[in-house]
Amino acid sequence: MIPVVRRPDLDFSDVRRDWFDGNLLISLRTDALHLLFPSGEQFFVRSVLRFRDRLSDPELVERVRAFAGQEAMHGKLHEAAFEALESQGYEYRSALEAYEHLAWKVLEPWGSDVMKLSVTAALEHLTASFAARALVDGRIDGMDAPMSDLMRWHAAEEIEHRDVAFDVLTAVDGRYVVRAAGMIAALVGLGVMWSRLFFHLKRQTPELTPERLRQERAALAAKGWTHRFILPRALRYLKPGYHPRDEDLDPLATQALQTLGLIAA
Ligand SMILES: [Fe+2]
Ligand SMILES: [Fe+2]
Repeated sequence: MIPVVRRPDLDFSDVRRDWFDGNLLISLRTDALHLLFPSGEQFFVRSVLRFRDRLSDPELVERVRAFAGQEAMHGKLHEAAFEALESQGYEYRSALEAYEHLAWKVLEPWGSDVMKLSVTAALEHLTASFAARALVDGRIDGMDAPMSDLMRWHAAEEIEHRDVAFDVLTAVDGRYVVRAAGMIAALVGLGVMWSRLFFHLKRQTPELTPERLRQERAALAAKGWTHRFILPRALRYLKPGYHPRDEDLDPLATQALQTLGLIAA
């Protein structure tokens, strides 16, 4: 399947701090995730494009091209969503610069090209897992527009291209140990960077009192809108013989794109 590059028209100038179901905790967690996306997705594209000339399958080359186009567009729109943080009075640039320095200036030059590709394939599995989860458990419906549109579109396209980095990795280095090491590095990196950005925003959110935090945590647990699915999903990726297309997630993507009017119903 060859992914398609689309660009929804979204305006982020009027998004409140608790845009995610009136729940500040999950709003901030997701804001922190937005901050990771633009430069993270540029890293994915760099990591995959490095191997384009070594691919012999013309269809895979075409899928790589479309993958790069989709990720570039995701980065652009998530960057546009930073505007919402700005209008909400958050200072995020210092934390963003610290994350980008650590991730792309300190850590990225240190790893081998294959390891960067493996980390990318692992993170693509995790983003597709997030996407599928968000589309089935109703959490996207709890978001205010335009954030719900942004997330629905991004989720659908992550599902569409979920196997591209994995297939490039398999074509250039199919060893299980490489795949497993990529997932371990991805989990550690994601955990550290995401929490740093989250706590940076949380420190600027005095209205998230300990009592409100307790209530919101309980509300999220009651709805099942937690991140406890991440570890089981990572373990699934580590199963020998795993492939991203083992699961038929495509109907979820189709339905989301139809809801947005980006494809015909
Ligand atoms: Fe993306
Ligand atoms: Fe992706």
